[in-house]
Amino acid sequence: MKTPIVIALVLSLSALAAQAGEHGDKYAGESRGKPLQPAQTNAKWQQECGSCHTAFAPGLLPAASWRKIMAGLDKHFGADASLNAAENQEITAWLVEHASNRWRASAAPLRITDTAWFQRKHDAHEISPAVWKRPAVKSRANCQACHAGADKGDFNEHRIRIPK
Ligand code: HEC
Ligand code: HEC
Repeated sequence: MKTPIVIALVLSLSALAAQAGEHGDKYAGESRGKPLQPAQTNAKWQQECGSCHTAFAPGLLPAASWRKIMAGLDKHFGADASLNAAENQEITAWLVEHASNRWRASAAPLRITDTAWFQRKHDAHEISPAVWKRPAVKSRANCQACHAGADKGDFNEHRIRIPK
């Protein structure tokens, strides 16, 4: 009677190990790095990059991602978010200066929500798929819906409120 239980245990343990390895590999090197400090603000960034959505804190992506995003603002996820050259330069420099300081992965994604670390933190185990469809949430990129302090780089677990 004991054997099937032992086999089941071994199987589930190896499945767990495989999962951990897979996540470990995909997640390796991606890190949001330092959260935004109160002193690290930029009025232009707040105004220009916070008008259509949460002003995404620079530490959420590596410098290479910010450079790509800022170089393609005229075709920005279906929107035209272009700026004049001086504003673009100022915001790019600020984002690059405060970009994630712990990003070791070679990928430089355009979306925070495409990164493995984001998907791991927001998987179906944490948040049921129906939650993303709620009118108050709508998009994964709508960080502010659940993290009220998102535009200050505050994603503290204790201050998460999922809207009904
Ligand atoms: C004219 C409106 C508009 C402006 C201005 C704007 N964006 Fe966006 N941005 C969008 C839209 C639309 C999306 C896609 C949102 C979604 O998928 O829900 C987006 C998505 C993003 C994403 C990816 C979010 C994700 O899914 O992880 C980043 C990063 C981003 N914007 C950065 C910026 C930065 C930096 C600026 C300022 C230079 C900026 N945006 C200004 C409209 C805008
Ligand atoms: C539908 C609600 C919801 C939305 C929208 C959402 N999050 Fe979260 N987020 C959560 C929950 C719930 C957790 C807690 C997961 C856990 O306990 O590990 C979390 C965890 C996090 C963490 C880890 C916090 C920690 O201390 O470990 C970060 C960072 C984060 N989210 C960033 C973002 C960003 C950036 C966005 C937008 C691009 C976003 N989240 C959108 C619900 C949300």
